[in-house]
Amino acid sequence: MLVQRGIHLSVIYFFCYGAFQAYYRLLVYKAVSCFLLSFYFYLSFSYVFPETLGSVIELLDTLICMDKANTALAKAYSESLALTLFSFEQAERPAQSAWIQACSKITKKDSLLFLDHKGLHWQSLRPKPYCIHVDFASPQLDYRRQKGGGLGQLIAKAMALKPNRTPRVFDATAGLGTDAFVLASLGCRVLMAERNPIVRVLLEDGLLRAKQPALPALDSESDREFQAIVARMELCSHEGQDFLESESFGLIELLYLDPMFPHREKTALVKKEMQALQYLVGSDADGVDLLERALPALASPVHSLERVVVKRPRVAPLLSSIRPQHQYEGKRNRYDIYLHFKGSLL
Ligand SMILES: C[S@@+](CC[C@H](N)C(=O)[O-])C[C@H]1O[C@@H](n2cnc3c(N)ncnc32)[C@H](O)[C@@H]1O
Repeated sequence: MLVQRGIHLSVIYFFCYGAFQAYYRLLVYKAVSCFLLSFYFYLSFSYVFPETLGSVIELLDTLICMDKANTALAKAYSESLALTLFSFEQAERPAQSAWIQACSKITKKDSLLFLDHKGLHWQSLRPKPYCIHVDFASPQLDYRRQKGGGLGQLIAKAMALKPNRTPRVFDATAGLGTDAFVLASLGCRVLMAERNPIVRVLLEDGLLRAKQPALPALDSESDREFQAIVARMELCSHEGQDFLESESFGLIELLYLDPMFPHREKTALVKKEMQALQYLVGSDADGVDLLERALPALASPVHSLERVVVKRPRVAPLLSSIRPQHQYEGKRNRYDIYLHFKGSLL
């Protein structure tokens, strides 16, 4: 599909530019080189993943286990997603091209899951190899935790976080758990919901590993802080909407929503991880339902809910026709804040 698009675009460009060159009696090779260059740039800068919403079985059918110590875990993951479990003798992944070739012999699907000593990974094989892995101890998250600006960050302002407060947050659209980790590192007790089975199992695995004591990459003080943060994170078994109907929602003080926004731009600005997530999840067309089901709790005496925060790309329209009371705008994202709710949605 990507190559087809590249060819279409390049052919159109070739004819326009070729006609222009011929008109001015210039050499054909200039037009040909222009064709090749435009094709090359299109492929280099265009997005990697097509916009697909697929069930697990359409997306993948295999889990490779390379970690003998965690065979039971691999078995549990493969059973929960109805995948064929395949054991790989090598503990270390070979170089990328050899690895992709080996995977392509095992499955005909465009992606698979593999479990190695670092955890569970989603590996896309086509159209381009890309790997997702939830690692809360990654250098990026570690840097953000230590130097990211703490309560000065936009997300902290949007959630009205204060020092020495540990509000109960429900992140109804947890994804790979990055925002949940940031909120937990700012003191929140975060309950997460994730309904996509592949994303959920990646998140579950990331959380499981983070909660194991003594991560060798962290020094002891940082390690203790890290352990305290992940101890404040929990993955619930409900889908977002179901949790809002449960009694436990009554205890939640802050609700955080970040439904998938269908990014149409074909540029590197949309991070590859977000493209991959969009490929796995599709678009969350019912984000508005989630928000509108939650808002009445702001006015309910049996709920502790104080605010609902919706994360959107900066230029995206509001999620619902109900206007937020405040907005915080950053370079790429915007937070829409709901504090009150009057009337009824019926
Ligand atoms: C844009 S991603 C969230 C990214 C996340 N904030 C992060 O930091 O990684 C949206 C995620 O919400 C999940 N989702 C959407 N609606 C949901 C619902 N009603 N219940 C549970 N999960 C939901 C999608 O499956 C998707 O993984």
